[in-house]
Amino acid sequence: MLLVLKPNSEELGREAARVVANAVRRNPALRLGLATGSTMLGMFRELVRLHREEKLDFSRVVTFNLDEYLGLPSNHPQSFHHFMRQNFLAHVNVSPHNTHIPDGSIKGDYQRYCASYERSIRDAGGIDLQILGIGRNGHIGFNEPTSSLGSRTRLKVLSKETIEDNRKFFAAEEDIPQCAITMGIGTILEAKRILLLANGSSKAAAISKAIEGPLTASVTASALQLHGDVTFIVDQEAGAQLKQQEYYQRVLEMTAVLTPERL
Ligand code: GLP
Repeated sequence: MLLVLKPNSEELGREAARVVANAVRRNPALRLGLATGSTMLGMFRELVRLHREEKLDFSRVVTFNLDEYLGLPSNHPQSFHHFMRQNFLAHVNVSPHNTHIPDGSIKGDYQRYCASYERSIRDAGGIDLQILGIGRNGHIGFNEPTSSLGSRTRLKVLSKETIEDNRKFFAAEEDIPQCAITMGIGTILEAKRILLLANGSSKAAAISKAIEGPLTASVTASALQLHGDVTFIVDQEAGAQLKQQEYYQRVLEMTAVLTPERL
């Protein structure tokens, strides 16, 4: 595990974009797992800039998004489809054939749909680099507390806390989604490399539990402790409750000397 502490969310976004851009330059056909949410905005902005100004080429990149609200059509302004178009996909040269986002408008045989999403990841050869945010309750994707640590893409009922966090985005109470389709923890853990981003004081408790707390389904991000190649990039506020900050800094410095290609 590597922890990179950044002074603010702008620098966090730039650092995350640097990691993604390097991965794309190394492997132009990168299979990239993507997340949504306000934390991702700085990273997407910087990737768009790199595409425009430095010709960062996404033409062969294949993307898989983590999740989508159930019941929202792709043109709904709060859908993750809309978020992705607005903030990233419409501004870079990713081929529409190479983008995958769970379909929130499906009805009926969810299990079959979710199995087909899993299959599309497998058929593409698996995810090389998965980007994650984190919920206040420590969720990744929409894997709410008590999700099975081996779970696969499936329908998930949202927790009260997540629904509360989403309230501000929806005009009417009855419009707030109660369920989502999300990659499972098991799906996420199969990515070769994982990058989790967090900013702001509201994420500080979740970050310290995910990194320094016990492995528990009550904080699903703690499952990342089982993964062999995870980098957390957090700003000062989100890292404020970590107890071992000095150790993480030493790990980073030694990594820069011993295995600089990991950075
Ligand atoms: C939602 C998404 C997560 C995301 C989280 C945090 O729950 N399913 O993938 O990490 O929101 O969002 P924000 O970055 O806006 O705090």
